Amino acid sequence: MYNSKITGLGYYVPDNIVKNEDLKEFMETSDEWIQERTGIEERRWIDPKTGDTTAVMGAKASRIAIERAGLTKDDIDFIVFATLSPDMYFPGGGVQVQDMLDMPTIGALDVRNQCSGFIYAMSVADQFIKTGMYKNILVIGAENHSGGLEKSTRGRGVTVIFGDGAGAAVLSRCSDSEKSQGKGILSSHLHSEGKHAKELVLEGPSTQRWVPEILEANNPDDVSYYPHMNGQFVFKHAIGRFSEAIMEGLEANNLQKEDIDMLIPHQANLRIAQFIQKKFQLSDDKVHNNIMKYGNTTAASVIIALTEAWELGKIKDNDLVVLAAFGSGFTWGSVMIRW
Ligand code: UT7
Repeated sequence: MYNSKITGLGYYVPDNIVKNEDLKEFMETSDEWIQERTGIEERRWIDPKTGDTTAVMGAKASRIAIERAGLTKDDIDFIVFATLSPDMYFPGGGVQVQDMLDMPTIGALDVRNQCSGFIYAMSVADQFIKTGMYKNILVIGAENHSGGLEKSTRGRGVTVIFGDGAGAAVLSRCSDSEKSQGKGILSSHLHSEGKHAKELVLEGPSTQRWVPEILEANNPDDVSYYPHMNGQFVFKHAIGRFSEAIMEGLEANNLQKEDIDMLIPHQANLRIAQFIQKKFQLSDDKVHNNIMKYGNTTAASVIIALTEAWELGKIKDNDLVVLAAFGSGFTWGSVMIRW
């Protein structure tokens, strides 16, 4: 068995900054409410004139990650692409990135695990590298939320939270000496609880409710084609499951909470991240949050935050880095990395 490690990281967010105050143009809300409940000050929303899409942003982040890995697009053996907001119903974003980057006809897999998407994608890529099937895998998390949110007072409970962006990592096989030093991905832990699928959901259009049916019904109260979230229910579950996923990762590797050097929590709500920080008694320099600037970018959030923390020099050689996420599905999980 081989070990895998991250050799390249990159992220891309649209230039267009939408401040909390700007949202008042579409809805009744306030900077105070949003900051107090979520910690968000601003988010990036794609300006459609720029041509950015989920896949385009994913490709932009990928170019940076591949270059930083010291590789070229021809060295990549496989793509794993996580998103809940693909450009098309099908096919998924993986093949679009394969085309945009003019890559050889390698395999491309799409992951549909919402906020936990990047955790699941990393775990999948890690297994392919462990078995020796592939050497270098491009793992992407990208989201274009702004195109599908209900920008009105009715939708404000969800709309103010989400932002657009993308991040990418190159996962590569460790050398023998790195493996003997215990470097790379130590373990990943994945969970789901489908009975709560409808607590955070976008129902239509789907094969159960196809576009002609929705149009024919012409029901102005039908909001099933906008995301719906039972906020407080999700919040409560998030706190518990985040903690469990981190504990599970520590226990699987005989580690203690004191061993954590950097926690990258999915950026769902600053209050959730702060609760977890307190629970694990981590000092401020051991948790990286950026929800203030980008909002919740679901599958892109962990990889954008990880890349940013790394760029800021917050992650050093041999650090124990913990990635954790919880979201729609419900799905949740963690990835433990010895840097
Ligand atoms: O990423 C996936 C996982 N997601 C999460 O973990 C998110 C978890 N949930 C949350 O973060 C929080 O539940 C929210 C931030 C979404 C909402 O905060 P909350 O404290 O649970 O607020 P609420 O939904 O209970 O709403 C409280 C009040 C309501 O008014 P009334 O009924 O008390 O009069 C809402 O209508 O706040 C109102 N409200 C708003 N007011 C101003 C809801 N959204 C807004 C808004 N601006 N944007």
